[in-house]
This record gives sequence, C-alpha cells and structure tokens, in this order.
Amino acid sequence: MRHLDASLLAGRHENLSPQFNVENVRADFPILRREIRGNPLVYLDNAASSQKPRQVIEALVNYYQTCNANVHRGVHTLSQEATDLYEGAREKVRAFINAERVEEVVFVRSTTEAVNMVAQSYVKALLEPGDEVALTGLEHHSNIVPWQLICEDRSARLAVAPINDKGEVDLQELAEILKRQPRILAIAHASNALGTLNPVKEIVKMAREQGVGVLIDGAQGAPHVAIDVQDIGCDFYCFSGHKTFGPTGIGILYGRLDVLEKLSPYQGGGEMILSVTFEGSTYNHLPFRLEAGTPNIAGAVGLGAAVDYLSRLGFAAFGAYEEDLLEYATEQVASLQGLRIIGTAGSKVGVVSFTMENVHPHDIGTILDQRGIAVRTGHHCAQPVMARFQVPATARASLAFYNTREEIDALCAGLREVRRVFR
Ligand code: ALA
Repeated sequence: MRHLDASLLAGRHENLSPQFNVENVRADFPILRREIRGNPLVYLDNAASSQKPRQVIEALVNYYQTCNANVHRGVHTLSQEATDLYEGAREKVRAFINAERVEEVVFVRSTTEAVNMVAQSYVKALLEPGDEVALTGLEHHSNIVPWQLICEDRSARLAVAPINDKGEVDLQELAEILKRQPRILAIAHASNALGTLNPVKEIVKMAREQGVGVLIDGAQGAPHVAIDVQDIGCDFYCFSGHKTFGPTGIGILYGRLDVLEKLSPYQGGGEMILSVTFEGSTYNHLPFRLEAGTPNIAGAVGLGAAVDYLSRLGFAAFGAYEEDLLEYATEQVASLQGLRIIGTAGSKVGVVSFTMENVHPHDIGTILDQRGIAVRTGHHCAQPVMARFQVPATARASLAFYNTREEIDALCAGLREVRRVFR
C-alpha cells in the first residue's frame, strides 16, 4: 500500500509567525473579503459557525479532485489513499486533544450527535427509576434534550446546578448534586449564549471524587482554548468541526477507552460489523463500531486541516489576542446607552450577549445586517439561560481570532444607529 502523507493534501504548511498577526490570518479566510450590501463583511457570528481558512477549503477540493473513494473497503489505490487521509485526520484530532489512543476518537456528525450517542448507547442502560443526570443551568439544547429523552424513558430525572447573576455555575450546588451520585455529569466547556468558560478540570475532579463520569460539550471550547483530555480527566469530550474552522457535518466524540468500550452500537450498518448472518452479527472494534455506514470522509479530512491550522497558529498566541479583543468589545458595548450585557463571568470566551432597552434583538440584527454586520439574535438554542436572565432573547456578537478592534467599532457604530432609529 502506498502511504500518502496526509499533510501534503491538508493544504500549505507555511510557518505562521509566532507573533500573532491578524492581517496575515485574515488573508487566509477568503470570505472575509466579501461585501454585504456595499459594506465590508463584519462577521461576528462565530459561535453559530466559524469561517474556513483556504487551507481547509483546499484540503476538501484536493480530496475530491485527487483521491475521492470509499474508505476501509477497496484494494485499489484511491481507496487506500482516501483511507490514509481519513485515518490521518483521526490521528491529527487525537494529537489536537491529546488523547492517549487514536481509537478513542470517533467521527460523528456534530456535537449534538456525540451527546445523543453517549446518552442512548451508554447512559440510558445505566438509568434506574429515580436516578439523576446532572447538568448545569448554562447548557444549550443539544446538551439538555438528549438527556431528557433517556430520563423520560427510564423514569429518571435531570438535576441542574444553577448559575449566578454573572452566568457562572454555582459549584457548591453542583457539589451537592454530585454527592447524590448522578449517572453522569454533562457540562459545557464554554457557554454559547454567555461565553462563560467553565473550570472543567476542577469540575471533573469534583465529579471523580464522587465516582461520577463527565461528558464535556466542547462545541464552544475547542475553537478557543487548547484541549488536553488527559489533563482534564474527562470520560467524554465532543466538538463540532464547523465551529472549529472546519467543515459542516463532521465532529468528534472522544471517549476514554475503558468507557468507550462500554458503548453499545449506536447505529447498525456497514463499517461497524465484523460478520453478518441472518442469525446475528458480530461487531467491529473501536472506533469503527460506532461509525456505521460510509463516513463523512471529506469532512474528516477538512477537520484534520482545521486542527492543523489552529495548532500552527498556536492557542497561546491567538488566545491572548482574543482575550484582548473580548475586553475591548465588552468595554465598548457596555459604554453604549441602554445596553445591558448578559453574562459577565470572570472567565469567558469571546461572546458578548446583550439587550438594548425597548428594542427587540431581531431589530438589532436586521439593522446591523444593513451595514454588513452579522450577529446572532434570539435564544441561541439555550432557552433556560434566557429564562434565568428573564429575557426572551439577546443579540450576540461572538468573536474569532480573525476579528479586529475596527470591527468592534463598526458594531458599536451600528448599535448607535439602532438607538437613533428606535429613539
Ligand atoms: N449553538 C449554536 C449557536 O450558539 C447554533 O449559535
């Protein structure tokens, strides 16, 4: 078999300066050159989906142009090359999250699919009537509803650790819940609606002391902070490609091998079996047992290119830049008349959620769009968070490392315009 160097097809490997240079980085993102209604695009909806560098786009194009074929199936060259790229991407993700073994990385469709997989294929069978699944008041719907489904089925219930007025999890309340030994704790690394960055290592330690396993929903963590699943000590960690500068339709579930081995097959089909007869089937080893059917090969290759890109950029370098940008954005937005920032945790990723007196967030979003500024408005798939702050919705500017202070200034000018219109 010819062993293809996956990195060759994952885009160019120029050495990005260790000194973070936002203009160089922006040049990698073709969409940032777009104009919307005659204005330069100001993309501040990164928590919903981030933009893609050309390295990711090229990896997808190269895959389809040079070695598209199905994986793990063919003796022919293209199939072997596609397999090398797909498995090469798995190894890149393993290194990105510092998992011990490559079998611990399962490709899934999204964070949502990963949470559903753990709920249905692992936790459901553990639940007895009256048992609890622990969550926090910060969770988005993807980390609530999958647990509700299995709790309803098993007459179990959710135990929710509340959040304080800043949007931080009440760790004392969480400790009380953990003492009751819920079957699992499922918790966001960072909140999509408020930006709160949870102290996940400390929380996992608290849970482990009570013998409780932890799933971390990293959808909003992976794009912003370096992940080391061994250091965090969690049982499961998941994130989506499209929020992490990779393609849509791909994500990963990490599971520590000893727990991942306990998952029953999630879906049946090709890839996940060793043998099939009408009398019964035997199942493949990990991670393939959990990847039924032809996988999203191109998506995995693109995700591999995305994690390569982030690693080359360096979390320390762009993290410091993002922190500075968040501080600037928070100060500027807070200084505007009639603005209320929702979510003021001491530790946050780049999310500024806000309301404006007497103006519906959808009107804010519509007027900003006239100026080429993209923010998300609504409940952000986190209705319990909105209920906690007694607002139906917020407007949310969510930042990535390619955003600039000038873009924050454009946002604030747009918000002043909204104020004028609704005076
Ligand atoms: N969870 C995504 C968001 O926060 C869709 O916008």
